Amino acid sequence: MSRVTQIRTLIALIGGLFSILAFAKPVELDEISRKEVAERIAPIGSVCKEGEECAANVGATVSTTSGPRSGEQIFNQFCTACHTSGLLGAPKKDDKAAWETKLSAAGDFSKLLGNAIGGIGSMPPKGTCMDCSDEEMSNAIEFMSGLKP
Ligand code: HEC
Repeated sequence: MSRVTQIRTLIALIGGLFSILAFAKPVELDEISRKEVAERIAPIGSVCKEGEECAANVGATVSTTSGPRSGEQIFNQFCTACHTSGLLGAPKKDDKAAWETKLSAAGDFSKLLGNAIGGIGSMPPKGTCMDCSDEEMSNAIEFMSGLKP
């Protein structure tokens, strides 16, 4: 072996040793980078419920209840399909005489409301507004009939 070859071999060996060391050394994080990693993998938003102590930077809590929908809203979304044209014999919106007849047949407003909630004749239960509360049904009836609860 010539001297040059010997030196090359030595260099290659040392290089190899270094790379083995570099790969074998476990990755160690110091305190600062541990904190950084923890911050980066933390969830983006945390849920803050009403009444709970929350992080100081939470501005407003989202209210889950938005109150009853108006009679107009319910009517336009669910009742208009039948009660605007009188489909299937439904009493029409603002047809006072038709509503008076329905009211006296039912007895009083609460019975009328009960019929609308349970369904009557060709009128499906809750007029297809399955998530309507009794109050919202009442609002819708008041809106289309002019009758007062
Ligand atoms: C699929 C058609 C249809 C839809 C949608 C509908 N109705 Fe009716 N509704 C009728 C028909 C038909 C009648 C008449 C039923 C009868 O007297 O036989 C009626 C009757 C009523 C009555 C009178 C009940 C009584 O005691 O005579 C009320 C109150 C009423 N509807 C409320 C509503 C409300 C509120 C909605 C919307 C949330 C609604 N309806 C949606 C068809 C419908």
